Amino acid sequence: MAARNWIPVRGAQGRHSRQAHADMPQGTFEREISKEGFFGPAAFIHHPRPPTGWTSFEGPLRPRAFDLARLDGADPSPWRAPRVLSNAAVEIRFWKLDRAMPGLARNADGDQLLFVHQGQGELFCDYGRLAFRAGDYLYLPRGTMWRLSPEGGAAILMIEATNSHFGLPDRGLLGPHAQFDPAMLETPTLDEAFRAQQDGETRVEIKKRGQVSVATYPYNPLDAVGWHGDLAPVRLNVADIRPVSSHRYHLPPSVHTTFVADRFVVCTFAPRPFETDPGALKVPFFHNNDDFDEVIFYHAGDFFSRDHIEAGMMTFHPSGFTHGPHPKALKNMLSQPKPATDEYAVMVDARDPLEVGEAAQAVEDLAYVDSWKGA
Ligand SMILES: [Fe+2]
Repeated sequence: MAARNWIPVRGAQGRHSRQAHADMPQGTFEREISKEGFFGPAAFIHHPRPPTGWTSFEGPLRPRAFDLARLDGADPSPWRAPRVLSNAAVEIRFWKLDRAMPGLARNADGDQLLFVHQGQGELFCDYGRLAFRAGDYLYLPRGTMWRLSPEGGAAILMIEATNSHFGLPDRGLLGPHAQFDPAMLETPTLDEAFRAQQDGETRVEIKKRGQVSVATYPYNPLDAVGWHGDLAPVRLNVADIRPVSSHRYHLPPSVHTTFVADRFVVCTFAPRPFETDPGALKVPFFHNNDDFDEVIFYHAGDFFSRDHIEAGMMTFHPSGFTHGPHPKALKNMLSQPKPATDEYAVMVDARDPLEVGEAAQAVEDLAYVDSWKGA
C-alpha cells in the first residue's frame, strides 16, 4: 500500500508555543491530538485548565485499573492463567505459579513473551536451560516446548503475539547497539542441569486457537542433543535497557519500545533523568491516545506520573480517553524535585480495541476514573 498522504495543514491560532512539549504559554496545559500514536500529524491545544478536570465521567470509555497482585489461584499451567486483556492480535495474562511446572507448555497460537514480575529460577526448553530472575523478559518463539522451575513462587505477565511474531524496533539514528546491545540477549545452554532433568513420562500442553490439547510422552521430549539456527528463546532484563532521554524535550513513550509485533508494541519504562531545560515539560503530556489502547503494568519503583498505583497493578486507557499526569505529578510539570525517575513498567500499546477479561474485573479499582479529580 502507498504511504498515506495526510491532509496537509500547518496552522496556529491564539497563544501557543512553536515547539511541542516546551515553552508552553504561561499557565496553560498542553493536550495532544495525534494520528498513529506519535508518528503521524498532531496538534497541540493549549488549555487554561488540565484537560482531565471533569467532575464526573460516565460510560464505557472509562479508564480501568486492575490490582493483578490480588489475583489468587496459583496454577502450574500457563494456559489456565487468567486472561486480563485481549484482542485478535494480542493476549495478556497474569500467571501466578507456586511450584515448578510438572509438564511442558507449547504455544501454537503465536510467539510468547513472559515478563517475570516476581521470582527466579530456571527455564527449561527445547534449546536447553536458562536462569531467570525478576525483571526478565523471556521470549519464546511459537512452537517452543518449555517449562519454568521457579525457586518457590513466581508471578509472570504473559504477552502473546497471536498468529504473529515478536521482533525489535528499528533503532534508526541511534544505531543497532543503543538501548541494549544484541550481545545482552542470552540464549539457553545445553548443559548438565538440562541433561539431568530428562527422565519420566511427560505431558505437553499445546495451546492452539485458545484450546489446550495434551500430548503425553513416555519420556521427557526436552531431550535435544544439539541445535543450530538463527531462532531461539532469549532473555533480556529491564536493568539491561539503557533508555533514551533528552534533557530538553519530553520524548514520547514510543521511544521506549522494546519489542514490536503485528498491531501492538511492548515498551519498557526504566529509570531515566528528568528534563532539565527550564521550558521543557517534565511529565507526560495530556493526550487521548487517539489510535491506540494503552496498557501499563507497574513492575517496581515509584511511579512518578500516577497516584495510588502500586507494583503489580495494571492501568488500561482505552483509545479516546483523555489522560495525563495525576494531580500530584502535575505539580512538577515544569520542575522536578528529584533528578530522575525511579520506575520500571511494561507498556503494551495495541492498535485495536482490547477486551477486559473476567478475572481482571474481579480485581478492578472502580475509583480509578476519579483519580484525576483535583487536577
Ligand atoms: Fe497515554
